[in-house]
Amino acid sequence: MHRLTVDTPSRRYDVCVGRGLLKEAGALLSQVLPPPRRVCLAADDQVWELWGEQAEAGLRLAGYTVDVWRFPHGEGSKTPATALSLAEYLSSLPLTRTDCVAALGGGVAGDIVGFAAAVYLRGIPVVQLPTTLLAAVDSSVGGKTGVDLPAGKNLLGAFHQPSLVVCDLDTLDTLPPAQFTDGCAEVIKYGVIGDRSFFFDLTEPISRHMEAVIARCVRMKRDIVAGDERDTGARQLLNLGHTIGHAVEKLSGYTRGHGSCVAIGMAAITRAAVRRGLCPEADLGALLAMLEQYGLPTACPYDGAALLPVIAGDKKRAGSAITLAVPHGIGDTRLVKVPVETLPGWLQDALEGW
Ligand code: GLY
Repeated sequence: MHRLTVDTPSRRYDVCVGRGLLKEAGALLSQVLPPPRRVCLAADDQVWELWGEQAEAGLRLAGYTVDVWRFPHGEGSKTPATALSLAEYLSSLPLTRTDCVAALGGGVAGDIVGFAAAVYLRGIPVVQLPTTLLAAVDSSVGGKTGVDLPAGKNLLGAFHQPSLVVCDLDTLDTLPPAQFTDGCAEVIKYGVIGDRSFFFDLTEPISRHMEAVIARCVRMKRDIVAGDERDTGARQLLNLGHTIGHAVEKLSGYTRGHGSCVAIGMAAITRAAVRRGLCPEADLGALLAMLEQYGLPTACPYDGAALLPVIAGDKKRAGSAITLAVPHGIGDTRLVKVPVETLPGWLQDALEGW
């Protein structure tokens, strides 16, 4: 098992990565929030079928009182109404500030449950139990929580660091291939952001060295988040591929996976960087080859005219400027703050004539 400590100004907590850890989740939690106390275990219907009973048994074995809350799977559940319904369930138990809620599942579960935990009683402890590659390497760590509004993803949210993250690699074995592929985009992203040798290590399939890969990504995210918990500086590097990616996701009506959209966004912004003389063309070639190796898309299905209004409304915008994460080479991504009126030019360089 890998055990990494995330040290943010608001909370210090461990991320445990290894096999067979759901059974151990209660024992691991007891080191942080000892029983007796109540744990509300929240999962979508599909994840519950696969892993719910094991997680529940692990918590009960360690002496917790466990209540279960289930919700329909899918991004469509990531709404204020679902978070409210969880909060109402918590208040019916009632769950108190000394109890805790555990999110078993992918990014959607972690975001909804984390958000409900952030606002219920003005904040109760949350444990993240990621069951997707994407949640393991990204959304379960760092405390970003939120739900979607009709105007866009994650527009209603809060920073709320978990008290513990337990990633049982066994749960990744049951992932549908498309969801695993989606997570690979976020793994590749870490290499492009800041670790060239890690990037090239990924030519050996991720599934063959899963624990080391996830631990490497978490270590990198930990280091970034420790220095910028509130996403005002270096943490924005983690948005690599997300500015265009989020717009693609929204325009697709959320039918495309998040990771696939990030892959499209990474390819697009790297093309723009090449055209502007910021990034060597060979590194763009290496990125496209890596994305293709994992079956990820690299071509953007929308043109600049469709993307622009969505990007201009992105919450990452600060006044009349937007900060882009721009690869200057594999392993060397930098933040570039650009006026919103220059976005059409960036999109043209990213999308046209390739
Ligand atoms: N998912 C990007 C971040 O946590 O900042």
